[in-house]
Amino acid sequence: QRNVNAKIVLLPGDGIGPEVTEEGRKILVEVAEKFGHKFEFESHPIGGNAIDDFGDPLPEATLNACRNADGILLGAVGGPKWDDPTAKTRPEAGLLKIRKELGLFANLRPITTHEFLLDSSPLRREIVEGTDIFFVRELTGGIYFGDSNLEQNADGSETATSTMVYSTHEIERVVRVAAKAAQGRSGHLTSVDKANVLEASRLWRKVAERVVREEFPDLKYDVVLVDAMAMHLISRPSTFDVVVTGNMFGDILTDEGSMLPGSMGLLPSASLGSDGPGLYEPIHGSAPDIAGLGIANPLATILAAAMLLRHSLNLDDEAKAIEAAVDAVLSAGHRTKDLAKDGEVSLGTIEMGQKVIEALNS
Ligand code: NAI
Ligand code: MG
Repeated sequence: QRNVNAKIVLLPGDGIGPEVTEEGRKILVEVAEKFGHKFEFESHPIGGNAIDDFGDPLPEATLNACRNADGILLGAVGGPKWDDPTAKTRPEAGLLKIRKELGLFANLRPITTHEFLLDSSPLRREIVEGTDIFFVRELTGGIYFGDSNLEQNADGSETATSTMVYSTHEIERVVRVAAKAAQGRSGHLTSVDKANVLEASRLWRKVAERVVREEFPDLKYDVVLVDAMAMHLISRPSTFDVVVTGNMFGDILTDEGSMLPGSMGLLPSASLGSDGPGLYEPIHGSAPDIAGLGIANPLATILAAAMLLRHSLNLDDEAKAIEAAVDAVLSAGHRTKDLAKDGEVSLGTIEMGQKVIEALNS
């Protein structure tokens, strides 16, 4: 057995961020103890609270700590207090900057369904049952980062341009992340593009196919056009395993996919670069409506902590142990308020975190 020393930076952020991040920290402490690792934690400000205290949503000290970390666990940022449109800076600017500064080009979003939630899915149970998709979205290129321009025309109207740009290297590295993930799962990789129309997509398809053929020949590989994918995702979601796609297509498809399980409250995500630390977070926001009440569901953050162990520290058994503990707690019927049916008893944030710890140790 390998004993790992790791420095983990916590970015609790705003709203329920600190409440759920604390439960993520506790499960990591428990894993360290159980498996003989040594994790050191450091907490730093980001988002609205950092604007209040330092006038900057991503203070230099926070960024430096992140650069020196092995993994970063983030809660969420933002809230009505900082929504003033005339403000010089916004909490989200801190998130965008950290992704850019750390070169986090691959966004990983597992969409897993749980048996007990199937009746809350907008889709019929037979369709969504068994769905377990692992989305890999390119995060630092494509149309969101290409040249854009707004021109005034002579007749007073305007013309706007946004450019989708992808280069060989950008496609190769994100496809490799996805292909490796597929190797560790069922071995099925789907690449989504719009190669019938877009030049940037034709390059995407060519490079993706070459990377898979040369480096991952054992994978079952297929290619789907993005418009068809939008349909397949609701007609036969359980037939996909790992899906890799560009920035904008991934943005849209992962939002569509996040509705499949019936609750977003259990979904984690990760953003990875080529070296340096990954950033792990729940996909939900800072939930200002329930902040401070002690009722936020910590499970998405706990599952994000499991992803940190798997993808940044190479501790797959430990990640699986957390995931199994979460499954056990849900199977035993424990619910936070967001998951509970009317009249069902619900647990608070800390109690739910404690249940997962107990399941991990049992
Ligand atoms: P939200 O995800 O914060 O909340 C949506 C609804 O889900 C609310 O009713 C909330 O109470 C509930 N909810 C969310 N997470 C929950 C949890 N763990 N347990 C129980 N209930 C939960 O999205 P919303 O309301 O659109 O945004 C609130 C703030 O969060 C905004 O300032 C937004 O900009 C920010 N935000 C930040 C994100 C991030 O930091 N990555 C992502 C999305 C939104
Ligand atoms: Mg989006």
